[in-house]
Amino acid sequence: MTEHVDINRVNNDLRYRFEYLSKFLNFTSDDIAMLNTFAPVAFPLIPVISDTVYRKLFSFDLTKKYFILRNEGFEGFIPQKQCEITLNSAQMELRKDMLSVYLKRIFTQCDWNDTFLQYLSQIGKMHTDQAGSASINVDYIHINGLLGYLENLLIDIVCNTDSIDEKTKYGIIMSVNKFFWIQNDFFTIHYLRSAKDNTISVKPTETKKTTKCCWIS
Ligand code: HEM
Repeated sequence: MTEHVDINRVNNDLRYRFEYLSKFLNFTSDDIAMLNTFAPVAFPLIPVISDTVYRKLFSFDLTKKYFILRNEGFEGFIPQKQCEITLNSAQMELRKDMLSVYLKRIFTQCDWNDTFLQYLSQIGKMHTDQAGSASINVDYIHINGLLGYLENLLIDIVCNTDSIDEKTKYGIIMSVNKFFWIQNDFFTIHYLRSAKDNTISVKPTETKKTTKCCWIS
């Protein structure tokens, strides 16, 4: 049997999009329960996870630069030379805390209501150029890399936790993986929109140029 999916609703209704994606990935309430089961194990390790993530982002100039550029709200803390920003500076500690809040929320959320879906989507949006003054404009390649890196960190923790039985480990890993593909989609909605907007805005000029060139030759 083939189920009809309305592409307009997929593109314009977050709940409908999530439900379609959930059916596609077979992400169910059991997966949410698995993420919740992982919470007590993950919680004490979240500061370490957060620190490890930022170490990774600071290990390449290409990813570190976003934190040097983004000092809004930290005027009082900005080091004299911007390049002196360190992993332990006040603004970086706050950013680690923000990532910790995000991770805690993923693992404790029992009801994936509209507010939570909006939250996941907003996290995606703020990394693009689509969120007004909150926009960070991170190139998608780094998002993709970090999603993979973060997922690996979490899977590594699950695999190395002796107090969880094998069947539950399997369930948690499957759920964590599904979660990351959903979160990835909630990033890409905004990245694709951003790419589309750029295409629309440059098209007339490009067309004009091409047409002119063709006529001249
Ligand atoms: C796995 C992918 C990622 C997730 C889940 C994530 C999550 C977050 C969260 C939860 C916040 C705080 C939002 C808030 O509450 O205001 C944030 C902010 C931020 N993220 Fe990401 N992020 C990801 C990837 C990246 C990457 C790859 C970069 C840069 C290379 C980056 C740079 C930033 C910056 C600069 C901020 C703003 C911090 C500030 O307000 O000063 N993020 N991110």
